[in-house]
Amino acid sequence: MPAATTAPMDRLQIVTVPQPQRLPSFAEDVAAGLGASPKRLNSKYFYDAVGSALFDAITQLPEYYLTRAETAILREWGWEIVRALGNPVEFVELGSGSAAKTRILIEETLRVQRALRYSPIDISADALRASAGSLVESYPELRVFGYAADYFSILDTPHLRRSDQKVLFMFMGSNIGNYEPREAAALLARIAALLKPGDGLLLGADLKKDERDLMLAYDDAAGVTAAFNKNLLVRINRELDANFDVRRFSHVVEYDETSGGLHSYLRADSAQDVTLGQAGTQVHFEKGERIHTESAYKYSLDGIGEMARASGMNVARTWQDGAHRFSVNLLVLAS
Ligand code: AVI
Repeated sequence: MPAATTAPMDRLQIVTVPQPQRLPSFAEDVAAGLGASPKRLNSKYFYDAVGSALFDAITQLPEYYLTRAETAILREWGWEIVRALGNPVEFVELGSGSAAKTRILIEETLRVQRALRYSPIDISADALRASAGSLVESYPELRVFGYAADYFSILDTPHLRRSDQKVLFMFMGSNIGNYEPREAAALLARIAALLKPGDGLLLGADLKKDERDLMLAYDDAAGVTAAFNKNLLVRINRELDANFDVRRFSHVVEYDETSGGLHSYLRADSAQDVTLGQAGTQVHFEKGERIHTESAYKYSLDGIGEMARASGMNVARTWQDGAHRFSVNLLVLAS
């Protein structure tokens, strides 16, 4: 008799994890950032519904090579990546999003083991439900234990359940690049604290390269990245009852070759006073004054090794695309 397959929804569980401590609200963060000198806004606020759609559009742009290069690495080397720790393994993914690229690794894994347990962690419960639902539909051998949470709350608290198998943690898509290098090493150290001997962390990191290619990737001809950056002001206007004249701000990017930091700003093209109704404050902009909105750090392979060591791990393997634009690295606990 053929084995009875479990219904997709019986293989899916999603837990909403409460924040361990009260985080500053959007209004408090914006008021603090615009009150600081130099002015800054946290890039995590890019991702409202419009911002997330614009980011998806960015990943399709000819200039934005990152997503395509990482996907090419997973397609070419996925078979080796999923065998690298020995099987069976289970997956835990921080910031899973649509999990589109993870499908490649799921399919490769299900060639070498009978079943797979996958724990995606994502701040957006909606994105998690949509992606996890479609994954359990696609793969009858897959069980998904999703966590709707800021991944910091998973790192802080003992919410994460695992089987007795090895775990391949995943932090992909160059998300590590959006942290200042010191914060990035601290974040990796917190992930390392979850690893047991035999586990690994798969880290997608963008590589240092020709300045022109980087500038184009973050300042594309169609202006999609500029719209993504300016949408932050549109969001502040809408949600915080503010009155930025968004048309009088420009998207500006700069690359610092030494640190590998690609920095994005919004520059006021004329002086203006902005009222933040919700926060009960006013902010003045001089002509040419800039708000720092994002950093995207690019690494050398040596730099990735140093970051791994600073967080108590070593790079066991690195896979790159043919043009050496992007890297996928397997980090393991330093012995
Ligand atoms: C989400 N993150 C990895 C993107 C990056 O490349 O740093 C965000 C982004 N910003 C502008 N374009 C894409």
